[in-house]
Amino acid sequence: AGDSPAVERNNAGGVWVKQRARPRRNRKSSGIRAMVRENIVTPSNFIYPLFIHDEDVDVPIPSMPGCYRLSHESMMREVGESLELGVRAFVLFPKVNDDLKTNMGCEAYNPDGIVHRSIRAIKAAYPDAVVCTDVALDPYSDMGHDGVVEDGVILNDVTINQLCKQAVSQARAGADIVAPSDMQDGRVMAIRDALDSEGYTNVSILSYTAKYASAYYGPFRDALDSHPGFGDKRTYQQDPANGREALIEAALDAAEGADMLMVKPGMPYLDVIRRLRDASDLPIAAYHVSGEYAMLKAAVERGWLNEKEVVLETLTCFKRAGADIILTYYAKQAAQWIKEDGLY
Ligand code: PBG
Repeated sequence: AGDSPAVERNNAGGVWVKQRARPRRNRKSSGIRAMVRENIVTPSNFIYPLFIHDEDVDVPIPSMPGCYRLSHESMMREVGESLELGVRAFVLFPKVNDDLKTNMGCEAYNPDGIVHRSIRAIKAAYPDAVVCTDVALDPYSDMGHDGVVEDGVILNDVTINQLCKQAVSQARAGADIVAPSDMQDGRVMAIRDALDSEGYTNVSILSYTAKYASAYYGPFRDALDSHPGFGDKRTYQQDPANGREALIEAALDAAEGADMLMVKPGMPYLDVIRRLRDASDLPIAAYHVSGEYAMLKAAVERGWLNEKEVVLETLTCFKRAGADIILTYYAKQAAQWIKEDGLY
C-alpha cells in the first residue's frame, strides 16, 4: 500500500530500482573494503619529529598537547618504544639555549652539540633506526631566521656555507638523512657536494622542496623558542598562493641531487603533494606540521572530533594525495592505533 506506480519489484517481491552498476557492492563488508583499498598507512611510512633539549626533565609544549621538549633519557625511551611499534625514522629538533645562539649559527655544527650527541647515542643503541636531521640555522640563530642576517636580509650564499658545515657535521655524527628546511637557493647541490667530498656519498638528502611561509608553524616555534626576531620568512619560504612554483623547486631539487622531496605544511597543501607526485618519480614526503597537530588536539580536547578516527583518516589522505612518507607528531600514537586494529 502507498507504493507509487513507479516502484518496480524483483521476482522475490523486493523494491528494485533497475541498475547494474552498484559501487556499494565493493563496500559491503570489511573484508571487501580491505581488498579494494587503494592506500594504506603503515608505521614504516612515518618520520617521527622529536623535540630535544639539554635538561634533565621533559617540558610540555602548551600549544602541542602531548609533545615535550625531551630530556636525553626520554628521547632514548621514545625512540625505543616507537621502534617497537614499527616507527623506524626520526627527525631531531633541538631547543637551543639563548647563550648559544648567534647570527652565524655556528652551534649548528658543533660536533658536541645536542643534535650530534643525540644522533650518536641513538645510532649506538639502535643501529637500525633511521636518523634524520634538520638542516637550517633557525634553532641556533639569535634572529630566529633560517639563515645568516645582514641589514634585515637573509643572505643566501653565506647561509649555504653554514648549512654545508652543519650537514657534514651531522653526517659525521651518524645521520642517515639530512633534511634542509631553510629554502635557500642552491643548497641541495652545495650540501650534496659537501657531503660527497667528505666521503658521505651514502647520506641521503630529504629536501624541504615546497616549504611555504605558513602560519601553521607557530606551535613549532613555541617548542623551539625560535620565533623570528624581526619580519617573517616570506623572502625564502614559498607564497601559500602559489602551486606552480613548487614544480620549479622540485625540478631544481631533483637536478641538484635530492633523494626525496617534501611538501610542507600537509593538509592545506594536498594539491601540491599531488602535483609533485605527478611531476616526479622521487619519493614524496608530507609534513603534517605543528599547527595541524594543534588544531586536531584542540578539537579533540573539546570533544568535537574523535581523535583516533580523524588522525588515521588524515594520515591516509596524505597517502591518497601521493605522499610516500609522512612526518607527523602523531607517528607513535598512530602506530599504536594501527597495531590495535590489527587488520588492514
Ligand atoms: C625550520 C623548521 C620549521 C619547521 C620545521 N623546520 C619552522 C619554520 O620554518 O619556521 C616547522 C615544523 C612544524 O611546524 O611542525 N627550519
